[in-house]
Amino acid sequence: MNSISFTKIAPGVYRSSTGKNTDSVLSLVGNEKKLDGISAAFDDMPMPFEGVFTEKVRNKTVVCIPRKLSERHYGPGLRFRGLATNYSVIHLRCDHYGGSDNGRTHVPTPFYLSDAGYGVFIDTPEFISFYMGGSVRADAKNPPKEQNRGRGDWSADTPSEFVEASFEGDADIYVFAGKNMLEAVAKFNLLCGGGAVVPKWGLGFWHRTHTRFDENDVENEIKLFEEKNFDLDVIGLEPGWHSNSYPCTFEWDKERFPDPQRFLSSMQKKNIRINLWENLFVSKKAGIFAEIKPYCGSHKVWNGIVPDFTLEKARDIIAKQHKKDHIDIGVSGYKIDECDGYDEWLFPDHASFPSGRSAAAVRNTLGILAQKNIYNVFRKENKRTYGLVRASAAGSSMMPFCIYNDCYSFEQYLTGLASSSFTGCLWVPEVRDANTAEEWVRRFQMCVFSPMLMLNAWANGVKPWKFEEVEDIVRNTIRFRKSLLPYLYNAFYTYSKKGIPPFRAMCLDFSGTSSQKTSELDHTESPYETLRLFDIYDQYMAGDSIMVCPVRPGEKSRKVTLPPCDWYNYYTGEYAGNGETLEIECELDKIPLFVKGGAMIPTYENGVLTVRCYGNEGKGFVYDDDGETFDFEKGEYALFEMSFTRKNGKTEGTIEKTDGEKFESEYKTVKFI
Ligand code: GAL
Repeated sequence: MNSISFTKIAPGVYRSSTGKNTDSVLSLVGNEKKLDGISAAFDDMPMPFEGVFTEKVRNKTVVCIPRKLSERHYGPGLRFRGLATNYSVIHLRCDHYGGSDNGRTHVPTPFYLSDAGYGVFIDTPEFISFYMGGSVRADAKNPPKEQNRGRGDWSADTPSEFVEASFEGDADIYVFAGKNMLEAVAKFNLLCGGGAVVPKWGLGFWHRTHTRFDENDVENEIKLFEEKNFDLDVIGLEPGWHSNSYPCTFEWDKERFPDPQRFLSSMQKKNIRINLWENLFVSKKAGIFAEIKPYCGSHKVWNGIVPDFTLEKARDIIAKQHKKDHIDIGVSGYKIDECDGYDEWLFPDHASFPSGRSAAAVRNTLGILAQKNIYNVFRKENKRTYGLVRASAAGSSMMPFCIYNDCYSFEQYLTGLASSSFTGCLWVPEVRDANTAEEWVRRFQMCVFSPMLMLNAWANGVKPWKFEEVEDIVRNTIRFRKSLLPYLYNAFYTYSKKGIPPFRAMCLDFSGTSSQKTSELDHTESPYETLRLFDIYDQYMAGDSIMVCPVRPGEKSRKVTLPPCDWYNYYTGEYAGNGETLEIECELDKIPLFVKGGAMIPTYENGVLTVRCYGNEGKGFVYDDDGETFDFEKGEYALFEMSFTRKNGKTEGTIEKTDGEKFESEYKTVKFI
């Protein structure tokens, strides 16, 4: 057993290593730490625990991280079936989500949280197993009491004084100390480069067209949107745009898109962005096949060779081709599909790669390295991109890509929104189809409060006006999203600067409340009831101040738990309560939203910035820039500070530009309501 010591690398951020030969995900990604953002935003915090030790057991390194028995954990990895992970055994491995939270996940980031206000990140690209406080060591100093099943209460779960993790090789270990879990997450995200800078157009409406669409089909689809008066910002082309897929050529199908340049110019004139689907497995018909072959692994996937993305040379070949054939002529981004699994579709664990890295390391980093590769091309061109990807890892917070999958369960998509905030990724609960008009509306509404509002019609060619009886509601729902742009853009600004996820689990904002309740937990008794009670996953925070309470299809009313502060109804401005649990009636055209007292929510429509004010007084801000480039780094942005008071029903507001001389914002006419 070796105890290891930590070095402070930023306020409340501590680093250690289990050995010298670490091959970390962050170094593979070319980590751009934003740790200097921390000192301004957060107080210094001491290392939250002592006595981390490691041991080598056969070919594995084991790390034991002390915990108090009453601590409650969230993460590691993106999950869909619940938030807290106490007692779980999680064998993290990049994979398509197969219906259970056993560690096979799109985002196997080895980062977990404790409601004591800290986070732990073990930076290894290898598969890693976590034992979340349920494996008791024979030499435990503080073992759980032995119980007697034959007499009185008994529980199968035995709380341990350690979280244990095991993996091959060595790893860097980081501890993030904060006053609460939100600070710990924010520091983790800042270590990973801060939050993604997304383009404004990316926060509009996305429609992925049928996989067999050609140029004319796309043009006709856009005409239909115009005729129906539906907003449209991005069209996603699915596999059929390639001359071959899967495996992929990454080249345009000359019959469907005879002149890609002309097609993209036409899209540009209509202000529609084009996003291209791809997977990473290269067809022998691809122009880059011969060049990339020496940098590919021992096994094929869908008959395509698999580039070793950990090699710069492999990444360069893809980047160069994508730049020339797509990005230079106006493609706005990609949907990088199938880089997660399933096992039976991917290469085996014994596959070999020219870098000499394990198949596990290549698999776990395929998604994040592909994202970074694309991001770098756009970054060099001073253009923002926004896209989708099915696998990610540490370092993803700064990547403008959303995770999606094929599971399509309303409940699990909702859980994903909350759980993504523990992992530094953006999760999108895309709309694909519905059995009823009501379900259709409810899915769109949840998607409005997510990183990307998208209809994915790749398989069925469905249109947003599928159900005539709710056509107006869906049109208005999309418009509502568009009007929220300043508020959502603020949320992404905060993500980028401070690392605070734009969509978050309730326990991050109100973890004080949660730990107060969990400290009442007597772990010698069954913890099941208490764990369920405080694991709120069907409400979540969007931006600074809005609590979103999606309505499940079929529900006419729902329970809403108001955390302890003043809350107001978003739509009416009426006071809703403080700390109560409400049963609310749900109208079909509205997703229930509650706003924190004192909040100012900026919205923008028809040239007017309308700021919605809640309570009797408060403050807010609006961040603005060109929404397309990185010129904000040269000072081309505007930051407005706002305040309001309300007396006798009359609202008075102020707005003042406090930063950013060089940028002329379009927010000129302002109304406070
Ligand atoms: C799936 C993906 C779908 C769609 C399809 C095209 O893997 O999740 O959204 O893109 O591939 O073949």
